[in-house]
Amino acid sequence: MAELIVVTRDGSEHMLAASDGLSVMEVIRDGGFDELLALCGGCCSCATCHVYVDRAFSDRLPAVSDDENDLLDGSTHRDDRSRLSCQLVMTEALSGLRVSIAPED
Ligand code: FES
Repeated sequence: MAELIVVTRDGSEHMLAASDGLSVMEVIRDGGFDELLALCGGCCSCATCHVYVDRAFSDRLPAVSDDENDLLDGSTHRDDRSRLSCQLVMTEALSGLRVSIAPED
């Protein structure tokens, strides 16, 4: 099973088992990290699942869609690592992916 490394806002790192086909948001939520609000449930309409993806993985991720791009533009904390975690689906190829939960807007 793939592994996902999550850095929470206090800077602590957590290793989570990530089933294929679950989004990064779902893995984090199922891991009990409630600081990732994910208010829309993964419909790409809230941006409360904003994470920073380690740059070492950026070329393995799917392209940012127009909807995701628009939502990220609404965040004052966007940078070049920003993604919406509900739009990233875990696979074995992404095992070891490291994401940090972005500050709340
Ligand atoms: S959970 Fe709402 S945009 Fe990702």
